[in-house]
Amino acid sequence: MSVAIVVHGGAGTISPERIGTGMAGCNEAAQIGMRILEQGGTALDAVEAAVRAMEDNPNFNAGTGSCLTSEGNIEMDAGIMEGHTLQVGALAGIELVKNPIALARLVLQSPHAMLIGRGASLFAEEQGIAFCQLEDLLTERQYNNWKRAQAQHTTEAEDLFEEKKHGTVGAVAVDSHGHLAAATSTGGIINKHPGRVGDSPLVGCGFYADANAAISCTGYGEDFTRLTIARRIADAVGTGKTAQEAADEVIAFLGTQTKETGGVIVVDKHGNTGQAWNSENMMYGSAQNK
Ligand code: GLY
Repeated sequence: MSVAIVVHGGAGTISPERIGTGMAGCNEAAQIGMRILEQGGTALDAVEAAVRAMEDNPNFNAGTGSCLTSEGNIEMDAGIMEGHTLQVGALAGIELVKNPIALARLVLQSPHAMLIGRGASLFAEEQGIAFCQLEDLLTERQYNNWKRAQAQHTTEAEDLFEEKKHGTVGAVAVDSHGHLAAATSTGGIINKHPGRVGDSPLVGCGFYADANAAISCTGYGEDFTRLTIARRIADAVGTGKTAQEAADEVIAFLGTQTKETGGVIVVDKHGNTGQAWNSENMMYGSAQNK
């Protein structure tokens, strides 16, 4: 049985210097996940480990390196799903946690599907997760982005930046049993309203996995949410489309519905992969062992 993993580190108009660093970070994360798959580990373990690696990489807008809210806080969203069990774990507005995806995995293992804000923090405490300081998550780059956005008094801050990027990280994988999993994590959008939740922790929107396909998305969260982008791709694979055809079809559909942009990564139960985006570029990496 072939194993495969695809990861992404966001889509948008990304400068050549940052593309190089970002692609390197994606490849590193894909290799971390692949080592788990090659050793007979589960797709769920692989996507969690790959996303953790990107959360720890300050070049990505997730975990360390997350963007700031209009109040200067960091509120993160994450979701993880296992295809053959349809078990899901998600968090919205989680604060002061280094690896939201690891906490989302604990939610998946609990009776709950999604926890938010204060209740999510309480759950982290109950699970013995150590809290960090805001400074541990904050990078100089994101602080400078926030200062510029604040100076313009806008919540559509990304429009201010030459490098317009939808910062989200994600991974999809299939393991040696043909089981699928998907994970997505983000700091959201720069200068967002406190409490704003994007697509990343919403099942069927920013991530989805079933018995046929696993999907992770990056893009303007409000559109990916109302268009349930991830679930549309799973349904397309379920009706016989290849991973690549399904990715292309749904990104084309996105383009008919909104001027906002984004990208998706997909893997199917046979280890076929797909990726598509309608922004200028998307940072991604993959590894396959047929
Ligand atoms: N796609 C990430 C977000 O909009 O929050």
